[in-house]
Amino acid sequence: MKHLIDPTDLTRQETDEIVALAQDIIANRAKYSEVCKGKKLATLFYEPSTRTRLSFTAAMMELGGNVLGFSDANSSSVSKGETVEDTVRVVGCFADIIAMRHHIEGAPLAATNVSRVPIINAGDGSHAHPTQTLTDLLTITRELGHLDNLTIGFCGDLRFGRTVHSLIKALSRYENVKIVLIAPDELRLPDYIKHDICDRNGMEYCEVTSIEEVMGELDILYMTRVQKERFLDEEEFDRVKDCFVLDAEKMALAKEKMAVLHPLPRVNEILKEVDADPRAAYFRQVENGKFVRMALICRLLEWANDDSKQNKGHDVVENADLACPNRKCICNCENVDKKFHLAEGGIYRCLYCDTKARQ
Ligand code: NCD
Repeated sequence: MKHLIDPTDLTRQETDEIVALAQDIIANRAKYSEVCKGKKLATLFYEPSTRTRLSFTAAMMELGGNVLGFSDANSSSVSKGETVEDTVRVVGCFADIIAMRHHIEGAPLAATNVSRVPIINAGDGSHAHPTQTLTDLLTITRELGHLDNLTIGFCGDLRFGRTVHSLIKALSRYENVKIVLIAPDELRLPDYIKHDICDRNGMEYCEVTSIEEVMGELDILYMTRVQKERFLDEEEFDRVKDCFVLDAEKMALAKEKMAVLHPLPRVNEILKEVDADPRAAYFRQVENGKFVRMALICRLLEWANDDSKQNKGHDVVENADLACPNRKCICNCENVDKKFHLAEGGIYRCLYCDTKARQ
């Protein structure tokens, strides 16, 4: 059995196969209309979502399966104090596969400690969002025709934007991908992504502070919203909330063949005037999300009984002298086994949220 918690739980080959399967589903919709007949997907959404939850629901319905779950944790036993592990044990009795979104980082990984059905991370705090990554990879493939040899600019909230973290991880396994990080100081990409992902995989990156200076070099511009709900300090949010706005004037500096992606929802970072530009791919991206989730559900259900399909092994360190300082990590919110792994530069990181451990 395999779970999808982090984009690298799929090998590059498995990732490419899922993207290819999604393209086959697009071309032959009728062929897939009953492949999940009799199967049930549970969507456990502890955090608000429109696109992701509905896209999972639509995906399972188009495969002929059924969907159950909750979109508001207050209406479930969670409000009585039930832990993630217990909820997942219970839901695993009713469903064949679970998609979970949680504001607490590492909650979907904790669910895999006890789950007997595949778990899909549908976004955990500001940590990871691997199904958005599959959506983005399918969109880049359909817009440009390739995932190698790309220059991709990430703009906006690179600190809290989980979609950015996961897409960079996935792209680090392709050839000749350069990333340009466009963010104010307060919203820069976390160090662990720069060191453990970019440096370790030899992925070239640079940091700039304006869109204009790099626009002409980009094949993809990945815009993001400033993640208001993740700020502890409202003044800090107010300082950065309008940091970058994409408009027609900036689009005029871009290559003729390029694509603008955005995981959505947008707030004010892309003006409406950009929507009519053929390079604006963000609404096409939403539809791709449904097809790629159909492909993912098919594969994970197939692999559920395949012992050769396992999540990548971590060199887990259980050391009582280590602590995770992240208050929004599952290991500090619920009674789960604390686990760490040895990362680049001999640093210990929390297995659930990747934060550097305190020694
Ligand atoms: C993103 C998310 O939830 O992280 N949205 C999505 O899944 N489509 C981006 C965001 O909320 O800004």
